[in-house]
Amino acid sequence: MKLIACTDRNGGIGKNNLPLFSISGDLRFFKEKTMGHTIIMGRKTLDSLPCGKPLPDRTNIVLSRDPGFARDGVRVCNNSGELALLLRDISGDVYVIGGGEVYRELLPFCDTAYITVVDADADADTFLPKLDPSDGWQLTDQSPDHEENGLIYRFLTFERHI
Ligand SMILES: NC(=O)c1ccc[n+]([C@@H]2O[C@H](COP(=O)([O-])OP(=O)(O)OC[C@H]3O[C@@H](n4cnc5c(N)ncnc54)[C@H](OP(=O)(O)O)[C@@H]3O)[C@@H](O)[C@H]2O)c1
Repeated sequence: MKLIACTDRNGGIGKNNLPLFSISGDLRFFKEKTMGHTIIMGRKTLDSLPCGKPLPDRTNIVLSRDPGFARDGVRVCNNSGELALLLRDISGDVYVIGGGEVYRELLPFCDTAYITVVDADADADTFLPKLDPSDGWQLTDQSPDHEENGLIYRFLTFERHI
């Protein structure tokens, strides 16, 4: 399982249930990575997407503890056991796309993390957990700096063996 996120320099990922940044270079990177694959997100992240709609051309899995929760184009899991069962039948890459609660729960099952780091302090209220070297996480790739609308950002890849 892989994780993909965009953070500020403090690991912040969101504020008031919205993303911190809208950087077209990062959105393109996210699309390239996830297109045609499976994405897993929390119900709050689904609600933060435009019109609360799933992302096209990907299998969208949404975690919600509400047994009545349903939305068009989405496969819902009510707990991690249901998620594990569903993933047994899914081929191709699986990306955990957020938010904070779901990153925390699924990070132990991830072996790769694609993190876009924006060199800014966005005063976030939601954070990505630390990719701790003591858990085996190592930085294996780093892009040059990019700039968009005055924001400097770079793409980092972390990997570990699990
Ligand atoms: N920068 C980025 O890369 C990025 C990516 C994604 C999201 N975000 C931001 O992150 C923020 C949202 O993160 P968040 O931590 O508040 O929420 P979240 O992780 O998106 O969703 C939390 C919800 O997921 C459901 N859930 C979580 N674990 C579950 C489990 N084991 N079983 C069943 N359901 C489970 C619950 O839904 P119910 O309440 O329905 O039970 C819970 O309230 C927003 O600001 C968003 O914009 C940023």
